Amino acid sequence: MNSKPGHQLAILLCILFSFIINNSQAEEKNVQPGINDYYYDAEFSQWLSTFESPGREVFDKKDIIIQTLNIKPGIRIADIGAGTGLYTIPFAQKVGKKGLVYAVDISTDFVTNIEKRAKKQDLKNVIGHINSQKEIGLAQDSIELAFISNTYHHFEYPLTTLKSIYQALVPGGKLVIIDFKRDPKISSSWVMGHVRAHKTKVIEEVESAGFKLLNDHNILEQNYFLSFSK
Ligand SMILES: C[S@@+](CC[C@H](N)C(=O)[O-])C[C@H]1O[C@@H](n2cnc3c(N)ncnc32)[C@H](O)[C@@H]1O
Repeated sequence: MNSKPGHQLAILLCILFSFIINNSQAEEKNVQPGINDYYYDAEFSQWLSTFESPGREVFDKKDIIIQTLNIKPGIRIADIGAGTGLYTIPFAQKVGKKGLVYAVDISTDFVTNIEKRAKKQDLKNVIGHINSQKEIGLAQDSIELAFISNTYHHFEYPLTTLKSIYQALVPGGKLVIIDFKRDPKISSSWVMGHVRAHKTKVIEEVESAGFKLLNDHNILEQNYFLSFSK
């Protein structure tokens, strides 16, 4: 074949661009296969004592965490990985009748029991939402705050899930992540084995999804507490 150097360069560039485009659209690989197996058929009553007992930092320091969030009445919050509703219920009290709290979880039993819990307390502003492992499944611009307590390390597809959180937040909305510090100096062997990423890596992932780090609230010992803005 007798093609000119300009043509060869154009062909090479086409191949290069299609390679870049294909790779950027490649599906994210599961980073934690199997980590949620025990949650899909979770029993609410069994987990209540695990999640809501003294000795767990996000339980013990719930009040100071909520105070730091400075929640205004009327806002819409997604409690992502809501579990037994440790935060869903006080959030619903804070946002009041004009606000909303979505209790988002992959576990049907957790979500239906949070709804029952809210009903017992006459909280009509809690909406249970069963999501998939890849996305939170809330509508675009439907929340002002996305809150994730001890759940980020359970995301099997963190980048894909972050993308769906970004879409659901209104412009200027906030994302808060509280999760275990993964630091060999202070973390238990359970945390070192169970938790995938340390704080710096999490910040890197969240910023790569378009968020900007606003605050690293240094008020917890075993967990980091980060706020980001959209
Ligand atoms: C360790 S619990 C934390 C519960 C609650 N946030 C708390 O701090 O008490 C993790 C929760 O995340 C849920 N989960 C795991 N992956 C999830 C995902 N991709 N989206 C929503 N929830 C998820 C689990 O079913 C479980 O309820």
